[in-house]
Amino acid sequence: MVSRVIPVEPFDLVIFGATGDLARRKILPGLFHRFTVGQMPDTARIIGAARSDMDQATFRAQVRDSLAQFAPQAMEQADMVARFLDRIAYVRVDATGPEGWTALRETLRDDAVRAFYLSVAPALFGAIAANLHEHGIATPDSRIVVEKPFGHDLDSARALNADLRQSFDERQIYRIDHYLGKETVQNLMALRFANSLWEPLWNATHIDHVQITVAESLGVEGRGEYYDRFGAMRDMVQNHLMQLLCLTAMEPPSKFTPNAVRDEKVKVIEALEPVAQADIVRGQYRARGGEGSYRDDAGDPESQTESFVAMKVNIGNWRWAGTPFYLRTGKKLRGRRSEIAMIFRDPPHMIFPKTEGHHGNALIIRLQPDEGITLSNTIKEPGPGGFRLAEVTLDMTFADALDQQSDPQDAYERLIMDVIRGDQTLFMRGDEVEAAWAWADPIIAGWEEAATPPKGYDAGSSGPEDALMLLHRDGRRWREIT
Ligand code: BG6
Repeated sequence: MVSRVIPVEPFDLVIFGATGDLARRKILPGLFHRFTVGQMPDTARIIGAARSDMDQATFRAQVRDSLAQFAPQAMEQADMVARFLDRIAYVRVDATGPEGWTALRETLRDDAVRAFYLSVAPALFGAIAANLHEHGIATPDSRIVVEKPFGHDLDSARALNADLRQSFDERQIYRIDHYLGKETVQNLMALRFANSLWEPLWNATHIDHVQITVAESLGVEGRGEYYDRFGAMRDMVQNHLMQLLCLTAMEPPSKFTPNAVRDEKVKVIEALEPVAQADIVRGQYRARGGEGSYRDDAGDPESQTESFVAMKVNIGNWRWAGTPFYLRTGKKLRGRRSEIAMIFRDPPHMIFPKTEGHHGNALIIRLQPDEGITLSNTIKEPGPGGFRLAEVTLDMTFADALDQQSDPQDAYERLIMDVIRGDQTLFMRGDEVEAAWAWADPIIAGWEEAATPPKGYDAGSSGPEDALMLLHRDGRRWREIT
């Protein structure tokens, strides 16, 4: 399939925290990729802004190193790299002080889209937003982009929203949840709302339960200090899994516009029922083989932080009452696998005497790796020996079906281009983030009050035994993490 790239308008993208990890790993390589495919116009510019005292040449050399490390194929395109580096400038700015802002204002053009990417600690969001406003750098059409963590509870999220809104309107604020930039996550909307096949079945009458799994094989990888303050609930469930749940459960919006989509997502979050502590399993990985434990990785021998969460969530509305959503995420699990599994109800009456091979129908939407869709069906096992049943699958891998292997697009690239286009559909609105915290806070408060330690699980396993029981006791079972 030919990829149709439409160049965006000329822009000045200012990256605060331009020398940090996210900028080096994701933002700059992503922009370079968009440049190579012709989406970033030659007139676009990227302005690094950070506290370090360095000149433009030094910053460009750093960007070149980041590309060499995180987009190694770039080095085979020396010409492209040189042209990309020509687009890069650097301004020394003190986020909380007065220095650098005038220079930044003078660097920006009046006739280009202005976007400010805050790849910095959330504690600096308010100060940077205020400085941009006070120094006349932010125009009414400018965009400001912020990263997670967007707060660690409802109060802190509200405070961040209030800080940003002092200087920017909601329509200018782009809160990134990179899961929304993943191709397959967007495909979930296409699957649901561009096909008529699924909608009549997409409800509690036909779906027995839903399993949303985001399993990671890696541990906390040098982010122990941050992670230990957040844990899997705040790091993954409140945001990434919540977004997957919303897109799976929401009503069809009347139009594909940012607010129509986000209105429907907020309604899902608001319909979530409180989760009983008995419906939650927290886990923490233990050392196994040569691998260290979570506590080793977090640097705290007594840590009670969870690296795994499984829970049963009920949505109190007409579409989903009686169909639980089971969520599960964890680090150091058996494999890296993210998927949404819609498990259909059994036929109302089974006419076949032998039902061993009958597994029912399931629609599996694979987010990563191996993005695609699998639909499992029951058939008659061929050959003699009575009428025996067997499970077979209809499989579609997007890479094969669409021949897109050659041009993979990272979530960040997609999202940054949406910022320039001014499309907020794939970004979290302020009320959405707050609603998600309002749901998560009592769950976290509940386990803090109970002070129950997380259940241990072996690194490389499927998580704690209790997580299996969460489904067993309902007569269901998790899909394997492979
Ligand atoms: C991040 C979390 O937001 O998402 C990480 O902070 C996690 O802990 C990561 O590993 C997972 O993202 P992906 O795209 O690798 O599934």
